[in-house]
Amino acid sequence: MIVVIGFMGAGKTTVGRMLADRLGLPFVDSDLVIEQRAGRSVREIFAADGEPAFRDTEHDVVAGLLAGPDAVLALGGGAADRQDTRDLLKSAQVVYLSVGFGESMLRVAGDTYRPLLARPGVDELYAGRLATYEQVATLTVATDGRLPEAICQEVISRLVAIA
Ligand code: S3P
Repeated sequence: MIVVIGFMGAGKTTVGRMLADRLGLPFVDSDLVIEQRAGRSVREIFAADGEPAFRDTEHDVVAGLLAGPDAVLALGGGAADRQDTRDLLKSAQVVYLSVGFGESMLRVAGDTYRPLLARPGVDELYAGRLATYEQVATLTVATDGRLPEAICQEVISRLVAIA
């Protein structure tokens, strides 16, 4: 299982989809699975049920996906915040797409889909998560100023090198 993590705007979905294509694996985005299961958008779930309920569902969905068939699995930016989810990630190859705060905000500028962007303190959220991403990652790839193709190529070369 290849799991792609990183902050909002890191390129998890774009690069993850590309990686899956190149590796001949299915691509799964945990947020999309959550939305399909709930029949509502992430934004609606946050608004109606609150973040803790979203996080519980997120954990269950990620646990189910990790127990399923091999895939490239992109997680939401906060999925690795929970220790019980991090424990499950120990069995996976975890690719951390790192992005600077400024660049991540440029990439998601104008986005109204992500509920956390509407809250104050996104910079603190970002800073607080960096150590977690590093801790969980088996591979870290910098993405600032780079095209998805180049990032994908680096991930593949380095996965091959450590396989
Ligand atoms: C979140 C990131 C989002 C989504 C939700 C919460 C976060 O996913 O899971 O809005 O806590 O960082 P992306 O990282 O794909 O934007």
